[in-house]
Amino acid sequence: MVTVTDEQIAAFRTEGFVHIPSVISPSEAAHFYEAALDYTRRNPSLSNRPVFDQHVNVWTHDSAMRALTLHPSLAAAARTLNGTALRLWHDQILIKQPHNNAATEFHQDQPYWPHATSPNPISAWIALCDVPAEKGCMTFLPGSFKHTDLPAQNLGDPRSLFQIEPEFVWFPRVTVPLKAGDCTFHHGRCAHMATPNFTDDPRVAHIVIFMETTTTYSGRGHVVTDPLGLTTGELIMGELFPLV
Ligand code: SIN
Ligand code: NI
Repeated sequence: MVTVTDEQIAAFRTEGFVHIPSVISPSEAAHFYEAALDYTRRNPSLSNRPVFDQHVNVWTHDSAMRALTLHPSLAAAARTLNGTALRLWHDQILIKQPHNNAATEFHQDQPYWPHATSPNPISAWIALCDVPAEKGCMTFLPGSFKHTDLPAQNLGDPRSLFQIEPEFVWFPRVTVPLKAGDCTFHHGRCAHMATPNFTDDPRVAHIVIFMETTTTYSGRGHVVTDPLGLTTGELIMGELFPLV
């Protein structure tokens, strides 16, 4: 089990993101890299953009990837960093194809989600291959998670977030290269982008998103909740959102 230090907890709570090396071992990363690519060969992508191939809630369909989404090290680190009880919100495989020529532009994640009350969501972004700066690497705006209630930003438009929140123009940008098996955790409102993949190999990442147990449904459309018939204002809970 990975150890999260007091310095890492403090960094996460101040900046809204933190790099935790070796959350899974190199051999686990190699195993899940193959499992993720195998999954994407058998299932169509949700996204038809060059930005990334996206496969949501793979843990409900695929036992190999379920072992990663429900990996005890991820949940333990997320709970320690957040200091709260957590449920799984959803997972996603995100692949940037070789030479995809498209950044994932700056955005916060939470405005995309159908969450009315959403205190501190936390995402684990797990590198299943080495991800240096030129291979679809994440970049964060420290402290940006304190900016709440922003409308959803356009992650295909490099200006979108900065038009919505001009103060962010002056924030430092922190790029975090990851080795296979490393992870960044980011707050659901920490603004981030990912570079294009300039390399000859796919960038394979698995993202596991956790939410606090007080998170309620807003009624906004979302691929995970649309089939469930939820009522606006109710707690998001049940077997699709297990406690971790
Ligand atoms: C990406 O990996 O391309 C983006 C991930 C994210 O926006 O959370
Ligand atoms: Ni994002």
